[in-house]
Amino acid sequence: MTGFSAQWLALREPVDHRARDLALQSIVLHDLERLARMRAGPLKLVDLGSGSGSNLRALAQLLPEHQHWTLVDYDPALLEAARAACIAWADQVVANEVSLKLIKNSKHVTISFRCEDLSSNIEAVLAEPADLITAAAFFDLVAVDWLKRFCGLLSTPLYTVLTYNGIENWTPSEPSDAAMLKAFHAHQQTDKGFGAAAGPTAAGVMESLLQARGFVVSSASSPWKLDTNDHALIEQLATGSAGAVRDTGLVSQSDVDAWQRSRCQASTCEIGHTDLYARPRQF
Ligand SMILES: C[S@@+](CC[C@H](N)C(=O)[O-])C[C@H]1O[C@@H](n2cnc3c(N)ncnc32)[C@H](O)[C@@H]1O
Repeated sequence: MTGFSAQWLALREPVDHRARDLALQSIVLHDLERLARMRAGPLKLVDLGSGSGSNLRALAQLLPEHQHWTLVDYDPALLEAARAACIAWADQVVANEVSLKLIKNSKHVTISFRCEDLSSNIEAVLAEPADLITAAAFFDLVAVDWLKRFCGLLSTPLYTVLTYNGIENWTPSEPSDAAMLKAFHAHQQTDKGFGAAAGPTAAGVMESLLQARGFVVSSASSPWKLDTNDHALIEQLATGSAGAVRDTGLVSQSDVDAWQRSRCQASTCEIGHTDLYARPRQF
C-alpha cells in the first residue's frame, strides 16, 4: 500500500477544500442539480481513493438534498476513519449500520464503504450505477495504462480535483530547488501500485484520453497556497518531499538535509494541482 495516514489527510483537508477551483465546481453543481430535478431518487456519487472522506465533506453540503455516496479505498483503516470523521461532521446520525445515514445542513447523505483495490478492480467499481465518479488527490498515483483502461470504460461524468501537476514555488528560493523538484518528480513517477505512476502528467493524459472518447472536458488550476499560517502542513510537506528525494538517490544526502531544514521554515509555498470535469457529450 502507498500508506496515507489519516493524520496527514486531516492536516491537508482544509487546504484541499480552499484550493478547489470554484468556477469549475459550480459547473459540476449546476449539472447535478439539473440531473436531480429530472429524476427521482438520490444522486449517486462514487469517490475513488476516498481516504477518510474529505471529498464528500467538501461537496455534500453543496449538492442536491438526497445523496448516496460510495467511498472506495483499499485501506480498511482509512474507511473506518472516514466513517468516524463523517459522524463527527454530521448534524445528525440517522443510522450507523453497514451504511451510514447522516443529515448535514438539511442534506440527507447515505454513505456506503467499499474496500477495493482499484488497480485490479476498477471494472467492478465502474459497473456500479453512478451519476458522478469523483476523486480527490488520487489520479497522480495511477499509471498511464491504467488511465487508458479507466477512460476507456468511463460512461458517466467525472469530476476529479487536486491532481498534482508538478508546479511548485517555494519562498525564499533555494539553490537546490530545481534539482530537488526534478528528483521529486522522478519519485512521483515510481510505481504506487498501478505500474509506473503518471504523476504530474496524469491530468493532461486524462484530458486527452477523454476528449478522444468524445467527452467535453474542462480543467482548472487548484494550487495549494500556503504561508506561515500553514506551518504544520509546510513542515510535513518538506519532510515528505525530502524523504521521497532521498529514496531516489538523485540528490546528495547533505543537499537534501539542508533543503529540508530550510523548507521547514519556508515563508510561502505553492503546490500546483489540476481539477478536471469531463462529461459525455450527450449529458
Ligand atoms: C492522497 S490520498 C487522497 C485521499 C482522499 N481522496 C483525500 O482527498 O483526502 C490517496 C488515496 O488513494 C488510496 N489508494 C491508493 N491506491 C489505491 C488502490 N490501489 N485502490 C484503492 N485506493 C487506493 C489511498 O489509500 C488514499 O486514501
